[in-house]
Amino acid sequence: MKGVVLAGGTGSRLYPLTRVTNKHLLPVGRYPMIFHPLMRLRRAGVTEVVLVTSPEHMGDVVNLLGSGSRLGLDLTYRVQDEPGGIAQALSLCRNFVGNDPFVVVLGDNVLGSDIGHEVKAFEQQIHEHGAGARVLLKEVHDPERYGVPEFDGDRILRVIEKPTNPPSSYSVIGIYFYDSSVFSFVDKLKPSERGELEISDVSNAYAEQGTLTHGVLTSWWGDAGTFDGLEEANKLARDLFYEELGNEGAR
Ligand code: G1P
Repeated sequence: MKGVVLAGGTGSRLYPLTRVTNKHLLPVGRYPMIFHPLMRLRRAGVTEVVLVTSPEHMGDVVNLLGSGSRLGLDLTYRVQDEPGGIAQALSLCRNFVGNDPFVVVLGDNVLGSDIGHEVKAFEQQIHEHGAGARVLLKEVHDPERYGVPEFDGDRILRVIEKPTNPPSSYSVIGIYFYDSSVFSFVDKLKPSERGELEISDVSNAYAEQGTLTHGVLTSWWGDAGTFDGLEEANKLARDLFYEELGNEGAR
């Protein structure tokens, strides 16, 4: 399975930390934030990865990671010219992905466990049903900050992006599994109120056709895209991957 890491955006919620650098290069524990999604992919056996970022920060990202070989990865890069949302960044990966199912990880998501079993669960889903998508959920105390699933029994009816009245106490975390038909759904999306193509609307397209499955994460998880999230991720991920990477990992 191939992987996609989305590391675009302006990082405006972290200004002025992100005035001259990309959010995903800020430190989380002993490494730049972007190492965390990349290491989770590699440890799940996903080594062919495309990384999307903005033109302003592509130079720094390539300077840091190069070909990816130090992390055991084979990296490809795509430029997102304007910050148009997660789903818009995803659409840039169409040719890289081809006709195969794949996994998307948001560059600011940091988690305390590997995702290999989830990769396997999605491979099994594709094997059995030939199509579909899978999202991962985490129970949180502040669901209004995230995409939130509304359930019908055990099935996700739809995902609501940052709802004022959350229909459940779960967040859809930034790890998504898709078949390649995702790109035809993305083509039909309309920008949300914040002017972005929303990843939650992509999930909803699969929910409507009844092919959206989900897993529930039991380890800790953080979205390091806000001050609180960044602080928490730094504490939780303090020594993560150090045994494996030491002071290496960069080009
Ligand atoms: C994005 C998604 C949201 C998801 C979150 C996970 O939010 O839009 O659905 O729950 O990532 O990190 P953002 O952090 O871009 O506001």
